[in-house]
Amino acid sequence: MTTSYRGYETIEEDWPRFYREFADVYDRFSGHSAATAAALIDMFKLDGKVILEVGCGTGIATVELARKAKVVIALEPEQAMMKVAREKVQEKGINNVAFAYGIAEKLPLAENSVDCAITIYASLPHEEASRVVRKGGIIIRAANHYRWYGGELRSVIFGEDEKARSRVIREGYKWDRKLRRDRAYSYKDILVTHTYSSLEEAIGTYGFIFGKKAIDYILANDKKTITHKLRVYFKEI
Ligand SMILES: C[S@@+](CC[C@H](N)C(=O)[O-])C[C@H]1O[C@@H](n2cnc3c(N)ncnc32)[C@H](O)[C@@H]1O
Repeated sequence: MTTSYRGYETIEEDWPRFYREFADVYDRFSGHSAATAAALIDMFKLDGKVILEVGCGTGIATVELARKAKVVIALEPEQAMMKVAREKVQEKGINNVAFAYGIAEKLPLAENSVDCAITIYASLPHEEASRVVRKGGIIIRAANHYRWYGGELRSVIFGEDEKARSRVIREGYKWDRKLRRDRAYSYKDILVTHTYSSLEEAIGTYGFIFGKKAIDYILANDKKTITHKLRVYFKEI
């Protein structure tokens, strides 16, 4: 069951359910992952590299990475997400992507086996990543900037719930500090924008996951374009 609001459906930030039951909607929601992958290819000169992509989801970034990489090993634990990713890769006739089921915490790869381990909006523990990346290779983690959960509508999503907002920022900042200070990752912030094809599409995807306040705002402001700020952490091995 989903919640119905003003004639639209929402699952109000139930992310695991989004991946498990609504992979097709996720695929239409997260178009900005393609722009993110394109930015990372440019920033880190990933042409011709063997790339492990952790938490590939529906393969939005995978196909971008595959355009330039030698090989992309696309890892994902959720069958429904991977099914969409596989179909996408097959439809496009891409033949340098290998899919693997698995989780970031236990990568099903040998030591020193890839040039680059990359994740966009998924977890990637440093120990595991540095085990599989060869010497001279790189780990790249692109995540929401810790003040930008939900993108430019972040203050709309939290509304008056100052406690929830502070909790999310605090958690994000803890991660940020851990990576930068304890693990010595460098970082660069980037902005990426996704334009939905219509107002209905923006509500049916972004509104579907972020809920009632997002739906109200999109309707009131005819909002079809959402910008996200990501913090890209990176570390050479
Ligand atoms: C927000 S989505 C990002 C998907 C894709 N990278 C993108 O940018 O569109 C997070 C993905 O990470 C996957 N995931 C969740 N837990 C994971 C874990 N422990 N290891 C690897 N992937 C995980 C989810 O199933 C989901 O597909």
